[in-house]
Amino acid sequence: MKAVIIDNNKNLVWSEVPDPVAKEYEILVEVHAAALNRADLMQREGNYPPPPGWPEWPGLEVAGVVLEAPANCRWKVGDTVCALLGGGGYAEKVAVPVDMALPVPRGLSMAEAAAIPEAFATSYLNLCIEGGMKKGDTVFIQAGASGLGMAAIQLAKALGAEVVTTVGSEEKEKFVRELGADVVINRRKENIAAVLAKHPVNVAMDCVAGPNLGPCLETMAHGGRWIVIATLGSPLSELNMLDFFKRGVKLIGSTLRSRSSETKGRILGELEQKLWDSFSTGKIKALIHETLPMSEAEAAHAILERQENLGKVVLTCKP
Ligand SMILES: NC(=O)c1ccc[n+]([C@@H]2O[C@H](COP(=O)([O-])OP(=O)(O)OC[C@H]3O[C@@H](n4cnc5c(N)ncnc54)[C@H](OP(=O)(O)O)[C@@H]3O)[C@@H](O)[C@H]2O)c1
Repeated sequence: MKAVIIDNNKNLVWSEVPDPVAKEYEILVEVHAAALNRADLMQREGNYPPPPGWPEWPGLEVAGVVLEAPANCRWKVGDTVCALLGGGGYAEKVAVPVDMALPVPRGLSMAEAAAIPEAFATSYLNLCIEGGMKKGDTVFIQAGASGLGMAAIQLAKALGAEVVTTVGSEEKEKFVRELGADVVINRRKENIAAVLAKHPVNVAMDCVAGPNLGPCLETMAHGGRWIVIATLGSPLSELNMLDFFKRGVKLIGSTLRSRSSETKGRILGELEQKLWDSFSTGKIKALIHETLPMSEAEAAHAILERQENLGKVVLTCKP
């Protein structure tokens, strides 16, 4: 089969590789669409290797058709599924643990379904499980127009939270307002901490951290949970620990990729229960900025590098 290999010069090359072999309790999926994530850019730079046992080529989520399934599992040959992966999605086929696949929600295209697993599972893990988000909470989501932000805003709104988010342009501001964001901060023009001081946050999902983290933490509601999931701003932050401990704020670090297949399966099961009907009715959408063929992975990565995307970028693969 073919897959998008990262060559020695960090180019993405659509190349011939050995077919994957499904192990016990795995399904083999014919990939029709694979969505991009910023983690793929980091993997390409050599900074984010796949966890053990997964293919070396990138791709954290796909949608496609089941080619092989073990007996006595929920899947049969021909079922359409979307799946969360540890890697290997930029390919014609991928082997996936049975519990890391979900049915394509009724009425969604393969491209839309491929755009769901990573962003919605990360949002659910951090807002609901790590953050304990409740109805009526104020939630802060950095990079609201990113693939992840698109999912997190809709999840938080669906569960009754007030959403404060950041964007880098006016076009992105319009996009996140349409998703339901209540307060939008243009990070290039406004002081984020000054806005948060007017909207004390109970739960934050932060992919930026850096110098803004300290001042923002000082504005948090008593007992708030601030979850750092990446350091796009900088890995270094200065914190006032006096204020921090007096207000009982919790600072949490979190990654989805490193969690066990069992944990990921549990998160996906809860997502299916809580959100799948909302995808089918169109109440929650997997919003796609652009779809390109798998052989144009370089051009797809460039969209994320230029920070242009409103929602997800997806690669498609014709079987
Ligand atoms: N820990 C985890 O488990 C986990 C899981 C999934 C994603 N993540 C992280 O969540 C973030 C979003 O992921 P994604 O795939 O949705 O990314 P994406 O679609 O590429 O969006 C990233 C956006 O972040 C914003 N941004 C803010 N500060 C930035 C900076 N200094 N440099 C570059 N971009 C900056 C930009 O939007 P604006 O210009 O509008 O601000 C950019 O478009 C990434 O950092 C990713 O690594 C973490």
